[in-house]
Amino acid sequence: MPIRKAVIPVAGLGTRFLPATKAQPKEMLPIIDVPVVQLVIEEAVQAGIEDILLITGRGKRAIEDHFDRSVELELFLERAGKPELLREVRHVSELADLHFIRQKEPRGLGHALLSARQHVGDEPFAVLLGDEFYDARQPCIGQLVDCHAQTGTSVLAAMRVERREVSRYGIIQGSREGERLHRVEDLVEKPAPEEAPSNLAIAGRYVLTPDIFGYLENLGPGRGGEIQLTDALALQNQATGMYAYEFHGLRHDVGDRLGYLKATVLAALERPDLHREFRRFLLEVTERLAAEGAPSRRSGTGRGRG
Ligand code: UTP
Repeated sequence: MPIRKAVIPVAGLGTRFLPATKAQPKEMLPIIDVPVVQLVIEEAVQAGIEDILLITGRGKRAIEDHFDRSVELELFLERAGKPELLREVRHVSELADLHFIRQKEPRGLGHALLSARQHVGDEPFAVLLGDEFYDARQPCIGQLVDCHAQTGTSVLAAMRVERREVSRYGIIQGSREGERLHRVEDLVEKPAPEEAPSNLAIAGRYVLTPDIFGYLENLGPGRGGEIQLTDALALQNQATGMYAYEFHGLRHDVGDRLGYLKATVLAALERPDLHREFRRFLLEVTERLAAEGAPSRRSGTGRGRG
């Protein structure tokens, strides 16, 4: 069955990015001048999915406003003779067939997905986390859609991570069935490095078959007191099996401070209107840093935490 619908959860609190996310959604953090959630929607659209449900929550109104038409702004840009900006602004509100539903309280990704049940109905669907984007020739979600067409099961995006980082991810125990394809044997949410069955982590893209809702509905709180999608996936896997696919491309986790910085720098290096000057600036900075030596020898002026 083709994948016609995508669900993008954007209701999380974004505690890793406080205080920036106190009054604005982390999914609206810009990669230069485009909010992350717009990049996520563009990924779904590029993969041919145009029915998109965003799961929002308290304090996330800016996301709805961003994708709404702004007649006043359009009029202003038209009168000011700025056709390119006008096109850009219209493009945002015409991207896809967007729907919004609220998760009443942020009780975890699994809980957020449950609120999509009625909209999704009885067909397989795509899930794209709203705080990650991918730099890939074929959209990451499109790679999973192709994989699902072969397997007919749920398919998880997978990537190798450093051993010491496994406790930040859902981890896959699997057996390789192709160059990039793994049959899932078990899944563990955020294991300690010494308990992790592998370093193959679940990334924020999924194609799920609709029976996942039955497993989510009956789940109690898991790790961190939240309703964990990974727990429901482990149950679904026991019943029907599923696959993980090591996608081509680069993942950017924008909900993480360092991830956000890296994503922004790489994006600037690729932007035709910025890359020349930005590259020159980076070279100057790196030369200066090399001359100054290790950071511990310099006086700290930052607000580093944790
Ligand atoms: P995260 O676990 O990264 O989001 O969820 P978070 O809870 O906002 O992050 P931190 O750890 O506090 O910084 C991944 C995606 O799932 C959504 C988030 O908005 C994010 O896009 N999410 C998470 C929900 O929609 N609802 C939730 O209850 C939790």
